[in-house]
Amino acid sequence: MILYPAHLNMTNQIHDFFNESSQEVFAQNIQKALEEIAPVMERDKFYSGASVQELKQKMQAIMHQEAEGLSLEEALREIKDLYLDHAITFHHPTYIAHLNCPVLIPALVGDFIASTLNTAVETWDQSTSATLIEQEMINWACDLFRLPKSSDGVFTSGGTQSNFMGLLMARDHYAYTQLGANLKQSGAIPEMSKFRVFCSDKAHFSVKKNAALLGLGYDAVVTVATDNQFKMQPKALEEAIRQEKQKGNLPIAVFATAGTTDFGSFDPLVEICAIAKAHEMWFHIDGAYGGCFAMTNTHGHLFEGSQYADSITIDFHKTLFQPVCSSAFLVGDQQNFRYVSHYADYLNPIETKEAEYQNLITKSIQTTRRFDALKLWFTLRMVDEASLIYYLERLHRLALNAYELLLKENCFELAHFPELSTVVFRYRLPHLRDDHQQDEVNLYIKNTLFNSGQASIASTRLNGRIYLKFTLLNPKSTKEDIQHIIQLIVKEGKQYQAEKQLVTV
Ligand SMILES: Cc1ncc(COP(=O)(O)O)c(C=O)c1O
Repeated sequence: MILYPAHLNMTNQIHDFFNESSQEVFAQNIQKALEEIAPVMERDKFYSGASVQELKQKMQAIMHQEAEGLSLEEALREIKDLYLDHAITFHHPTYIAHLNCPVLIPALVGDFIASTLNTAVETWDQSTSATLIEQEMINWACDLFRLPKSSDGVFTSGGTQSNFMGLLMARDHYAYTQLGANLKQSGAIPEMSKFRVFCSDKAHFSVKKNAALLGLGYDAVVTVATDNQFKMQPKALEEAIRQEKQKGNLPIAVFATAGTTDFGSFDPLVEICAIAKAHEMWFHIDGAYGGCFAMTNTHGHLFEGSQYADSITIDFHKTLFQPVCSSAFLVGDQQNFRYVSHYADYLNPIETKEAEYQNLITKSIQTTRRFDALKLWFTLRMVDEASLIYYLERLHRLALNAYELLLKENCFELAHFPELSTVVFRYRLPHLRDDHQQDEVNLYIKNTLFNSGQASIASTRLNGRIYLKFTLLNPKSTKEDIQHIIQLIVKEGKQYQAEKQLVTV
């Protein structure tokens, strides 16, 4: 007879799990949690304005208490004080900083069910019809870009991971088809130091980061000049490819962006695609931000050429009002998933390759993976397409409103005409020549508004100087909300000027 330590025999005390006999308790718990969330959603500020020091002290005070086995009420009270009261709320009209969106209720229901059942989608025997649901959502996304029948895809953790997969495939495909090298099997080859990837100088940083992670290095990424609307210039791309070839380097891929992070600009896909194909390069479209706008009347035409892409990134957690994570990586030719596929005896043995069901793990770089497709499923089943299109088009309209309102004031320099739902601009102290001081006032405005909980706006750099950025992702926001934020900016700008007693010439 095996003797277990006494505490392991107390099966009747195992009462914390969600199972056949705990559903009422679970429902009560969720109801109480919802009651605590309600005031967060109703708060009149996007943030409490608590300082870093205050929050660190709260954490320290909790960690010094010898508490365990708290009741739900106690745990909720604790987390209210530490987190809920200070969480940043993305649905608040004064939050217009980063690519975070308010979320749709159907999406939350889907996410909740996926978490509660804890489905893992890597193999059929863990997911059954969840696999079919993910596949249908992928098919829907492939259709959005008019990808061919051979296309396929997989859900990922986000744009960074999707771009990673695009670059991995580009690298391995080039090595295999042009150099006869199987990188998956044999690892790096000397020619890899000559691989070159082209993207605009406004492309997302993940292109460089992924190049480093994939053993190509930052130096493998050649940034191509953009025009005055921050779109990649096809002529500059041609010239950059020519120059790299002349140096003996090997152009393997072009990464075009459909909606750059700062400016929302769309690279000209048709021209870039033609250049990539002419040079037998992989053509990837980073549509992490702009991809969902393929649905719209305002931006649909900008995706002409996407049907010929080798791979595409699209983030539903940026612009389809989904909770994080919800993102997909699509390929024009499903055969290319061979660069990431692996068969493990215990999970997806090679014998299952021809089975009547799919093991999604063969398309993913993750093993255990959440059922993130369910929230998109609920969204597409419950929210009609016309409403989604309306929400997206409204975001663009808000950016145009913001542009007009900023122009009306005489203290802003606008960096671009908004193509998507961001507006980049700079507060200018009248006639002040010192660019450094102009940078300072912009940072002062951003930080003061955030720290006081009045508004969250972003900052970025353009030509070495600090600019402010609105990222409009809340269809419920109004022109008046934006006007209110602009007034706050003007007020803080004047305050800075008075505090510093700035003399302008
Ligand atoms: C154009 C673009 N690509 C990729 C990413 C990375 O996406 P994620 O944050 O989901 O990894 C971003 C994020 O802002 C982006 O704007």
